[in-house]
Amino acid sequence: MIKFDYRNADLSVIGAENGLDLAQEFENYKSQISEIILDLNKRKDKRGQGLQWMNLGYSEETAWYVKEYASLVENRFDNIIVLGIGGSALGGLAVTNALLHPYWNLLSKEQRNGYPRIFFLDNIDPDSISSLLNMLDLKKTLINVITKSGDTAETMAQYMIVKDILEKELGDDYRKNIVATTDKNSGILRQISEQEGYKTFVVPDDVGGRFSVFSAVGLLPFALVGIDIDELTSGIKDMDLALKNTDIHQNIAGQNALIQYLMDTKKGKNISVMMPYSNKLQYVADWYVQLMAESLGKVNSQLENVGPTPLKALGATDQHSLMQLCNEGPNDKIINFIRVEEFENKLEIPEIFQYTGIGYLGGKSINSLLNAEADSTKASLIDYKRPSVTITLPKIDGYHIGQLLYMFEIQIAIEGALYGIDAYNQPGVEQARNYIYALMGRAGYEESAKSIHEKIGLTSVV
Ligand code: PA5
Repeated sequence: MIKFDYRNADLSVIGAENGLDLAQEFENYKSQISEIILDLNKRKDKRGQGLQWMNLGYSEETAWYVKEYASLVENRFDNIIVLGIGGSALGGLAVTNALLHPYWNLLSKEQRNGYPRIFFLDNIDPDSISSLLNMLDLKKTLINVITKSGDTAETMAQYMIVKDILEKELGDDYRKNIVATTDKNSGILRQISEQEGYKTFVVPDDVGGRFSVFSAVGLLPFALVGIDIDELTSGIKDMDLALKNTDIHQNIAGQNALIQYLMDTKKGKNISVMMPYSNKLQYVADWYVQLMAESLGKVNSQLENVGPTPLKALGATDQHSLMQLCNEGPNDKIINFIRVEEFENKLEIPEIFQYTGIGYLGGKSINSLLNAEADSTKASLIDYKRPSVTITLPKIDGYHIGQLLYMFEIQIAIEGALYGIDAYNQPGVEQARNYIYALMGRAGYEESAKSIHEKIGLTSVV
């Protein structure tokens, strides 16, 4: 199992001004945390609660269907392009980046065991989209368009561009190169898919985008590139079992939720830095940032604006960038380290120089250097009386990635309950979404367009 160490958030280590009396706080919040965990597990099967993501690790049906499709199209495609944004892209990006070879798309087909390359657009940048489409042989490219709502402007614009080019290049056969992941019944993409006859997968009800990584949203791309889905789901299930424990002393998601919450609300540490010491986990930090920001940045029932500000960092790279700010800037952050015990590769630093300044590195592994950097950063944070917590992964494999992501999802669900907000909606994003429709000339949004023009002083419509 992954491990969680919270000692460096305790007042015994960093002092009473910045640290929490964790033994006392665990006692104070024991029954509230226990009630939250019980409540989540009670409500998870009910409709309209937004908690179906808690059941995804057990969905053998979805796993079966994505595996079946992946085996049907095996060897037909050299590339997959995933179209989507936010929760429809970041989970896929995080897991593939963690579990595939770091330079997967540069490997030959043989080196990839026949599996395709994979690209996530996750944006509407004209340069990157054009360059990618010009570079790939579209006949050998499978497009997985993912949108739960079915009308997200960014995703549907990506799709419309790609569909048009595919149709021109492939003729009627282009439909075989598109697979859609969307709501079961509603939304424009569902309508189009039925008219066009695309193969489709479902984003289940009550699973919001940022909690959808273990639905077909993530599982389909994972199966297509040969990631072992059963390994992932067995990690999720083991973590789910562990996190059903209602005793905060035994529940690492409950512990981290409480620590993040109290650091923000009692100690003024309203910035939560996610800092993995592994390039393979850097998109896990991106995914965590979105999960935390969209879930917790809300207006609560007392009309207060609440929520911590997540910030991503990468060890050791950011020791030469953000760490100065973390140590000597405002004491408003809690650092979440992710440390890996055993990397896939071991790289020795050769003993080729005797200079005192670098000679000590010779004969050591770069693995131990990376972990020593994590430990030294932790130690320096203690000197500056800055709180941190550490999550340790025995190794980066499907089992532990399943555990890690699911643990964060439960942590955010518990934090949402502590803040007294709805962690599963995103009204602040919907507002800007409606403004996009207005600015881009969608029928019915004319008045809104006028008011935006006045508000921000725009003189012409796009
Ligand atoms: O987490 C969320 O709900 C959002 O980030 C969505 O995933 C994002 O807005 C994309 O929405 P959709 O899947 O409807 O295209």
